Amino acid sequence: MTTQLAAITAVGGFVPETILDNAALEKLVDTTDAWITTRTGIKERRIATDPAMATSDMTANAILNLLESKNINPTDVDCIILATSTPDYLLTPTAALVAKKAGLTTAFAMDINAACSGFLFALSTGAMFIESGRYKKVIVAGADKMSSIVNYKDRNTCVLFGDGAGAVLLEPAKEGYGLQDNIFKTDGNGGEVLSVPAGGSLLPATIDTIAQNLHYVQQDGRTVFKNAIRGMTSACAQLLEKNNMTTQDIDWVIPHQANLRIIDAVGESLNLPKEKIKVNIQRYGNTTAATLPLVLWDYQNDFKPGDKILLTAFGAGFTWGASYLIWQ
Ligand code: ACO
Repeated sequence: MTTQLAAITAVGGFVPETILDNAALEKLVDTTDAWITTRTGIKERRIATDPAMATSDMTANAILNLLESKNINPTDVDCIILATSTPDYLLTPTAALVAKKAGLTTAFAMDINAACSGFLFALSTGAMFIESGRYKKVIVAGADKMSSIVNYKDRNTCVLFGDGAGAVLLEPAKEGYGLQDNIFKTDGNGGEVLSVPAGGSLLPATIDTIAQNLHYVQQDGRTVFKNAIRGMTSACAQLLEKNNMTTQDIDWVIPHQANLRIIDAVGESLNLPKEKIKVNIQRYGNTTAATLPLVLWDYQNDFKPGDKILLTAFGAGFTWGASYLIWQ
């Protein structure tokens, strides 16, 4: 008996209309378009300037886009899993708000927080619901409104991030297709290198935490940079070896979009031709949990049935990993 796998059968995405380009950032902090472009590869990012546009709204828009593209009835969806680090509220899962806003009234809904690795971890969680045979339609989304936790006076971080949402539909795969395998890792020693220190149970909001800017993203960029290259490279290499494959067997690599130099370094370490690596960081920056589904959304027309795709991500925690799928 063959095992039932899960395949991505539809993709949706949403980015807010407002573009924050490098020229606009030059007016906010001491930076230049040349510095941002050469050090990160980012030219512009999207920002949800409408205060009423929360993470749940961006996600609902991405899901409506997905449902429309395949003419799927919202009440046919069994489950929605949302990866995010910028929930609408600390209490009340954002996925529940998404389910309401997108009309998924019969689906159960939950959030996963694994920072920039969130979508990858959520994808395999969703796949397991399909593999078990219990559910037939699972939506996995990744969304972040990074502008809500970025300090636009801090040039070390504000140039990197953007807002956006992406979603995929998982359904039982035809034989020979679907999500094949993954390798996931976590090292909590990285916790202090990249975080939003306040607003959680350890440091609830006070006048002091606000005065000290502790509700914004803080990071040691260089340490994250080195660990991201090491983590994504080793996860991809291990996953390929485990599946008796080399990079030559892979048609496309979809890496987390944090910094073009990180992506290039991972590609070089794995000896991957650049044409196989999908990149859209120049237009969106780092949208955290949304980068992978937004790449899938942008490039879905390039993928043919049978294409072998490697997805890889690294994020706060540290969390990282890689997944291997055969496009259906
Ligand atoms: N404009 C101009 N100068 C800047 C800017 C800026 N926006 N930001 C930093 N600099 C300066 C620094 O102050 C420093 O100046 P100094 O030498 O006088 O001290 C100089 O540029 C070099 O700083 P570095 O930190 O060494 O620059 P680096 O080449 O490492 O690039 C960056 C910094 C872009 C943050 C890089 O380390 C990075 O991308 N790290 C990964 C961070 C990340 O992506 N985090 C997101 C979440 S995790 C993830 O998604 C993988």
